[in-house]
Amino acid sequence: MLAALDVGVPDPARVTVVQISDSHLLQSGSGRLLGVPTGESLRRVLRDIRKRYPEVDVIVHSGDIAQDGHSHSYRQFSRILRCINVPVLCIPGNHDDRAAITNALRPGSPTHVNRSVRAGAWLIVTLDTMVPNEDYGSLSDLELRRLHLELGCHARMPTLIFLHHPPVMIKSAWMDSMALRNAQRLFAIVDEHPQVRILAWGHNHQAFDTWRQRQRLLGVPATCFQYKPGCAEFALDAVAPGYRVFQLFGDGAFDTDVVRVPHAWFPTESDRQSDCKRNDGIPRVRLGDAHD
Ligand SMILES: [Fe+2]
Repeated sequence: MLAALDVGVPDPARVTVVQISDSHLLQSGSGRLLGVPTGESLRRVLRDIRKRYPEVDVIVHSGDIAQDGHSHSYRQFSRILRCINVPVLCIPGNHDDRAAITNALRPGSPTHVNRSVRAGAWLIVTLDTMVPNEDYGSLSDLELRRLHLELGCHARMPTLIFLHHPPVMIKSAWMDSMALRNAQRLFAIVDEHPQVRILAWGHNHQAFDTWRQRQRLLGVPATCFQYKPGCAEFALDAVAPGYRVFQLFGDGAFDTDVVRVPHAWFPTESDRQSDCKRNDGIPRVRLGDAHD
């Protein structure tokens, strides 16, 4: 279990990892959420990645693949990923259903749920922070133990950790109430393993970039609608969807950037005022997709 899968990159001196997140796919491929056709928006993001980064080695989806955890949404995700021929690592978000993600994956597909991999000189660890029926996140004792053991087994490998929920506050009160609740336990393990260089997450639907001691802490835009930074309450932002690119070098150095993918769909005023039922401001979707 602790031997991380080696994904066999062509150039170990320079590994390209792309993080996508928060696709909120609906049961219907043409469904809209807050005015955005989430399936088509993800397709456009992936098209942009293939065009700009044909050398990508690993893609990570950091959670909220689906809006309501329905098997049809994960089958749609699987179909959209047919254009990708590199390993895809997935972790569940608060909107996801763990079992449904795993069940929807095609046998023999390069998609892995909550699996750590070696890519060149680097270790990539994915952590499951999902708490069923809650929007906040927490790491279980088992997941924390796995992290501790994996970092211990790969002590010489510079490490990039992905999780769905942010382990730090981002100065948006409504979002910060749904962060990772036991981040201090995560950082206690990270502090024992100086090879950890980066922690990256989803959930916030916005770019974020700061440092904590030796680690770079990074948030990523969603592949659909975006939240406005620095707001006390739910607020949508009229900026384009996007993704984050990591260039991981053999000596442990790295570069990272956010790429935006402009397109025509932004939430309208009526979308912004829609009847929000969940803590994270996203309306619940009825069977058949309310916005289809
Ligand atoms: Fe989320």
